[in-house]
Amino acid sequence: MDRIAITGGARLQGEIPISGAKNSAIKLMAASLLTEDTLRLTNMPRLADTRFLGKLLQRLGTEVVESEGEDGPETLLRTREIVSAIAPYDLVRQMRASFNVLGPLVARTGQAKVSLPGGCTIGARPVDLHLKVLETLGARIDLHEGYVYAQAPRGLSGAHIDFPFVSVGATEHAMLAAVLADGETTITNAACEPEMIDLANCLNAMGAKVSGAGTSAIRIQGVGRLHGATYAVMPDRIETGTYAVAAAMAGGEVRLTRTRSDFIQALIDKMVEAGVEVTPHNDGLTVRRNGALLKAVEVETGVYPGFATDLQAQFMALMTLADGESVIKENIFENRFMHAPELSRLGADISVQGGEARVRGVASLEGAQVMATDLRASVSLVIAGLAAHGETMVNRVYHLDRGFERLEEKLGACGANIRRIKGDGEGGED
Ligand code: UD1
Repeated sequence: MDRIAITGGARLQGEIPISGAKNSAIKLMAASLLTEDTLRLTNMPRLADTRFLGKLLQRLGTEVVESEGEDGPETLLRTREIVSAIAPYDLVRQMRASFNVLGPLVARTGQAKVSLPGGCTIGARPVDLHLKVLETLGARIDLHEGYVYAQAPRGLSGAHIDFPFVSVGATEHAMLAAVLADGETTITNAACEPEMIDLANCLNAMGAKVSGAGTSAIRIQGVGRLHGATYAVMPDRIETGTYAVAAAMAGGEVRLTRTRSDFIQALIDKMVEAGVEVTPHNDGLTVRRNGALLKAVEVETGVYPGFATDLQAQFMALMTLADGESVIKENIFENRFMHAPELSRLGADISVQGGEARVRGVASLEGAQVMATDLRASVSLVIAGLAAHGETMVNRVYHLDRGFERLEEKLGACGANIRRIKGDGEGGED
């Protein structure tokens, strides 16, 4: 398995173009199952997760063609016919968002058999809300030997879906399933993440009638069929936030382009409070820190527009070198502090109790061997390594490859001393 070695201490200087959003791209890819025409996705990130989903879609009958377009990477997806409505365990297990093919399969063919994704390192992550969505839209759901069997032989019917709490994946699943349902679907307490708007815009470009995405109330008027479209994936707000924190951690000045600063406003507010200089511009933002000591600040994760849980680990890395004690509260996932003991191996002073971590800033970090546990946790170790004395070796980096495109190239271009050491094999679990 590959490893990443970082020799800390280099300040970052330069520009990093942000890729298309992983979390949006994989839902847009699933939307291609809803039409027999071609969906052309531009600004596609090339990641292990998009590859996994491409493999699954091919198994279901989608032709997947990747190419280099005028404006970067593109993927053409065409599902003339669903040849199999079965998503097997070995593919869903590798990437839990594959579960989102369930709704489109039922909507298009009236039935599907999709493996339950199982737990992952950041918690149990149940899919009860997803199943409730499909039941509310009229599907019959049975669970048998680790698989969900969904049936709606006469198609899905519009209905009112009221979520008991906000779920990104279940809101997206509801949109994906309801666009072809008979009649109107209304969703209340919907997730408001920018990815909801991206999915709705793409579905609308395909002929769907979705309104209200980006607010907590979404309305979908079902249509008889969807057609092909060309759609540009939104910029990755988590990649944007990650490099913003990396620049703050290493010091220097980095311009992040092809993105939007408003997507990460909650992070920017906290970075500014901590003493980092952030300047938004129309193509992204510039992050600057010139050696001044960081101030410890408190952070609490929340649903959008709150502080993203996917940026919590990175911000914790930043706080390890701040002046004072920072309290970081995780409100979305139950077990999302796996990076804390690894950061401690680099000399950080962190104690975790339940959903709260106390980070007492230290004068310096020291390079060590560390282990990546999940996608965002692993990038926090890279960020910490940028500022640590000596060499940090991040093991099991397949997690990083799931969500960060050409990470070492992008950081290296800004002067980071970072390199990949090739290993053998690939693994995946969440
Ligand atoms: C998505 C993102 C992930 C991000 C998360 C929160 C993708 C591929 N992943 O994950 O990067 O961290 O949003 O912003 O887009 N829950 C249930 N039952 C369900 C569904 C969810 O109990 O049926 C719980 C989860 O365990 C979690 C909370 O709801 O505690 C929020 O999860 P959710 O918003 O659904 O996150 P994901 O869509 O899995």
